[in-house]
Amino acid sequence: MTTTTVAKVLRSDYQKSVASYWNNEKDPVNLLLGDVDGLYHHHYGIGDYDRSVLEGPEDTRDGRIITEMHRLETAQAKILLDHFGDISPADRLLDAGCGRGGTSFMAHQRFGCQTDGVSISEQQVEFANDQARQRGVADKASFHFRNMLDTGFETGSCRGIWNNESTMYVDLFQLFAEFYRLLEYGGRYVCITGCYNDVTGGRSKAVSRIDEHYICNIHPRSDYFKALAANNLVPINVIDLTSQTIPYWELRAKSSVATGIEDPFLTAYREGSFHYLLIAADRV
Ligand SMILES: C[S@@+](CC[C@H](N)C(=O)[O-])C[C@H]1O[C@@H](n2cnc3c(N)ncnc32)[C@H](O)[C@@H]1O
Repeated sequence: MTTTTVAKVLRSDYQKSVASYWNNEKDPVNLLLGDVDGLYHHHYGIGDYDRSVLEGPEDTRDGRIITEMHRLETAQAKILLDHFGDISPADRLLDAGCGRGGTSFMAHQRFGCQTDGVSISEQQVEFANDQARQRGVADKASFHFRNMLDTGFETGSCRGIWNNESTMYVDLFQLFAEFYRLLEYGGRYVCITGCYNDVTGGRSKAVSRIDEHYICNIHPRSDYFKALAANNLVPINVIDLTSQTIPYWELRAKSSVATGIEDPFLTAYREGSFHYLLIAADRV
C-alpha cells in the first residue's frame, strides 16, 4: 500500500493507533476460537453456555470451553443477520469494521449475495481476503482497506449495512451520514454494540477501563438514537442483549484465553452502567 493510500484511509493519529492495534492483534481469544471452524470473529457471544463443558476430563476442558465460546460468538452474528429480513442474491451488503470477516462469510453463505467488508487494518483485510480465496467465494465476499466514515463506494449501492462491535471507534453522526448515502431507500442498518447508560450518569470506572483496553470511545445509549434520527435512519427494533451476553463473559473468565478485561465487562453489565444493544433501523 502506498503512503498516499494509507494517508487517505487513516486520517488521524487516533485512527492510526486503532489500525496499529488491529494490525498487531494476534490474541488467542480470537485466533483459537476462529480455528474451530474457520470463522474468525472479533466480537462477543450471546446465549447460555452448556455447563457440561466445565465437567469431564481436565486435559480437554479448555478445548471444550473454547468451542463453546465460539458457538456463542457465532450465535451473536446470527442474531445480527436475522434482523436483515429478506435479502436476495442480487443485493449487496456492507460489513463496516469487518475484522477478519467472520460475519461477512456467514452473510454470504446465508443470503448468497455480494458482501463487502471494510477495515482500517491492512492485516485484517489481507487475512479476510485470503479466507475468501480458501473458501472459493472471493468473487462474492471482498474485503477492502477503507475507512467506514468515507468508503468511496457508490451512493445508494447497499441494501444493508452492519456494524458488529465497531461503532465505538468513530463519531456516530459522521458514520450514519455515510451509511445514509450508501443505503438505498428502505435499506436496513443493523448494529450490535456496547453503550453506556445515560440514566446512571457518565462513563463508569468499568466502562473507562474497557475504553482504555481497546483504545475506543464507548458512546452513551442516547447518541445512537440522536445520530440515527439526524440521518433519516428510523429504528424498527431495539433489543437489550445485556442479560444474554453475561453468561459468555462468565465462561470466558474461566478460560485459558481470558485477557483480564472480563471483570470490567461483568462489573459494568451487572451494575447497569453498560448495555449490550442490537439496533435495527431503516433508511428513509
Ligand atoms: C472489535 S472489531 C470487530 C470486527 C468485526 N466486526 C467482527 O465482528 O468480527 C472492530 C473493527 O473495527 C474496525 N475499525 C475501527 N475503526 C474503523 C474505521 N474508521 N473504518 C473501518 N474500520 C474500522 C477495526 O479495524 C476492526 O476491524
